[in-house]
Amino acid sequence: MKGILYLLLILTVPLTLYILSLETVSPTPYDDNHINAKTVKDCFECHGDDQEYARSEDHPPKDQCFKCHGPVKPEEHE
Ligand code: HEC
Ligand code: HEC
Repeated sequence: MKGILYLLLILTVPLTLYILSLETVSPTPYDDNHINAKTVKDCFECHGDDQEYARSEDHPPKDQCFKCHGPVKPEEHE
């Protein structure tokens, strides 16, 4: 019995993370601008506050881009 409860507990964690990850945020586009952008530092080259494509004012402030936008995923764009 204890084993089953433990199993349920283990399963709840990834499930919760999965549901959170479904929150709608546009993915990093798959184009020439983004294909070589692999680190957050790369993102700021274009999306930093004083750059040409700075993020809008109501953009969430956190700077860990990939936590929300996800890395470029070529396999989804045959
Ligand atoms: C070479 C410049 C450049 C770099 C580097 C870059 N971007 Fe962009 N990004 C753009 C431009 C230009 C647009 C707007 C045109 C477009 O949608 O492609 C854009 C648009 C976006 C969008 C909005 C897409 C949409 O559907 O509205 C997201 C999200 C984004 N970038 C995330 C990132 C992330 C995360 C990184 C770092 C991995 C990054 N960008 C690096 C130039 C860049
Ligand atoms: C806490 C979650 C979160 C983080 C972290 C995050 N974003 Fe966003 N981003 C969003 C949301 C939500 C939107 C607006 C809805 C959409 O377009 O998907 C957005 C939109 C954008 C857009 C297009 C619209 C706009 O506001 O200009 C760009 C470009 C973008 N993000 C770039 C970045 C970059 C670059 C980073 C890292 C420095 C980053 N984001 C980190 C959640 C996040």
